[in-house]
Amino acid sequence: MGSRSSWFANFYDENFLQLVENAATQAQAAEEIDFLLSKIKLSDKGRIADIGCGTGRHVLEMAARGLDVWGFDLNPEFIATAILDLPSETTANFVCADMRDALPRDFDLICSFYNSIGFFSDEENQSCLDRWARDLNPKGYLYLDLWNAAPIRAHPRSERSFGLPNGGTAHEQGELSEDARFVDRTYTYRTGVGKPVIRKTRFRLYSQGEIESCLSRAEFSISNQYGAIDGSTFAPDSPRMITIAQID
Ligand SMILES: C[S@@+](CC[C@H](N)C(=O)[O-])C[C@H]1O[C@@H](n2cnc3c(N)ncnc32)[C@H](O)[C@@H]1O
Repeated sequence: MGSRSSWFANFYDENFLQLVENAATQAQAAEEIDFLLSKIKLSDKGRIADIGCGTGRHVLEMAARGLDVWGFDLNPEFIATAILDLPSETTANFVCADMRDALPRDFDLICSFYNSIGFFSDEENQSCLDRWARDLNPKGYLYLDLWNAAPIRAHPRSERSFGLPNGGTAHEQGELSEDARFVDRTYTYRTGVGKPVIRKTRFRLYSQGEIESCLSRAEFSISNQYGAIDGSTFAPDSPRMITIAQID
């Protein structure tokens, strides 16, 4: 990673997995894949990429449904966990890769679940979208599952503590950047053993207009936007902004 390393190379570690263990569940991934497949019709041979796949919960769900799916993630430990969790009767491909680098081509659907873009400069974020648009097969789809920026911008300050499944605690302190483009959060993890571990994040917040303009620059056409996986239309107070876009 060298000089390209940044907060996202440290933040997504075993502490993060503890933080989201009860929020980012396998059962929820199953519901998300049911929703995705009800909205996007792929051919039998359609090939799918999950970029920023983490420990592979969505890849495992798609593979269990017999789909040809590839998971990509920066963290080699997450990729190793995903491979270990793959049932022996199921096939999927996992690759440890930085999403800013060229990925294999020949995909019909690129997915990004659980706020897994927006880690870099605006130029680098845009160039990921540009490349995905170029690399998708004709009529290929993008499924982009982001937080809705508006509720976070309305209540950006956070100061809260969580109990973790491993018996430790996490303390979160968050605030909006001066230009309101990012939410900056610091997490302090304590397990009772050793020193506290401090991790910082800086998420780019995308309004509906901003994501529309990034996708249009990449030459994607938005087909639908939802506010949640119940299929509700995206609204200013929706918890999420789930965008389905297509290459013309
Ligand atoms: C919010 S987590 C989501 C994980 C997964 N999509 C899920 O829903 O469980 C973001 C993921 O992006 C990965 N990531 C961060 N920076 C990355 C990069 N530069 N290239 C590829 N993956 C990256 C992290 O390792 C992490 O697994």
